[in-house]
Amino acid sequence: MLFIEQENNLSCIIGLSYNFISKTSMSDKNINNSPFNTLKNIVEKDLSHVNELLFSMAKSHDAQLIDKISSHILSAGGKRIRPILCLVFARLFNQECMDQIYLAAAIECIHTATLLHDDVIDESETRRGLKTANNIWGDKASILVGDFLFSQAFKLMVNTGSIKALEILATASAIISESEVMQLDQIGNIDMDLDSYNKLINSKTAELFAAASSTGAMSAGANEDLVSDSRDYGRALGMCFQIVDDVLDYTGKQESFGKEIGNDFFEGKVTAPLIFAIKNASIEDKEKIKSLFVNRHQNGAFEKVKELIIKNKGVEDSLRFAQEYADSGLKILENFPNNQIRNGLKGLFLQIILRNN
Ligand code: IPE
Ligand code: IPE
Ligand code: MG
Ligand code: MG
Ligand code: MG
Repeated sequence: MLFIEQENNLSCIIGLSYNFISKTSMSDKNINNSPFNTLKNIVEKDLSHVNELLFSMAKSHDAQLIDKISSHILSAGGKRIRPILCLVFARLFNQECMDQIYLAAAIECIHTATLLHDDVIDESETRRGLKTANNIWGDKASILVGDFLFSQAFKLMVNTGSIKALEILATASAIISESEVMQLDQIGNIDMDLDSYNKLINSKTAELFAAASSTGAMSAGANEDLVSDSRDYGRALGMCFQIVDDVLDYTGKQESFGKEIGNDFFEGKVTAPLIFAIKNASIEDKEKIKSLFVNRHQNGAFEKVKELIIKNKGVEDSLRFAQEYADSGLKILENFPNNQIRNGLKGLFLQIILRNN
């Protein structure tokens, strides 16, 4: 009931029919008219070049393990939302050139590298529905191949010849690494507040979404104001995306999410659902949540904390918070040309908020 109300609220505010995209998994090939698939179809040809380039950059003649690990993670799928954003923003401003292919491939290469590193840090066992690379080949191999992919991303960026794009993506890479260290420092801190959480997800996720959108627009020759709007749209989408990822870490299903559920809690990571639940809870429930967090490896702790989070509106308020970012992103869209791409970018917010993968 709670979710149906929530979904209706969101669809009302975002201005799309809930039925239009309900149950839409972002990689479901059978639902072609979802906003994500509409955008993906628009750039389909470019995206296939990006994928080819990605696979070619992830190869090594001399180190077989690079091929094995890279092709494991790249073939496992992934939504490719960041390269799609880059290509879509280039298309929005009407210019197609090779630069966008290099940029989009570099961006997905950075993303893939961060995932390899992230799974080591988070001790994750499943990604994209398969065993993680660290689970199969170990931490050392995953870190080294992640480093290799980071370096390959820089080669791709250099191909564009754009110092500005290089600066944006180099800065984003540094900020992402910095955020993982910030996060490490916050592990086990049940008192982490919303401001620190915001700062963290802005750095670890929204920064690359912002870079993907703005470099796409920039490569198409958009003026400074539109590049800045593209960056702000990407940032809002990225914030929304990470908040929902953190909600799905409690409420998702491993089959669709492709990652194990409860990982953030077991790893001692405090995210939006926990922050809002603690804020709303009675003194008694607060104590219960904190004690479950401290004793998180005891049998049944996750199920109990999830129940308390839902009871204290941790999920509901997190989605409302994501919706605030969606609202800010939707306002920015008014500055863009009114066409199919703008409509797709509009619908993407609701689809991300309702996603299950
Ligand atoms: C996972 O990103 C990391 C987060 C920022 C939550 P995605 O959900 O885009 O992962 P893939 O690429 O689709 O697997
Ligand atoms: C996103 O955070 C990490 C990166 C930006 C690499 P998560 O740790 O929540 O990502 P998932 O859930 O493992 O994909
Ligand atoms: Mg992780
Ligand atoms: Mg992580
Ligand atoms: Mg996560």
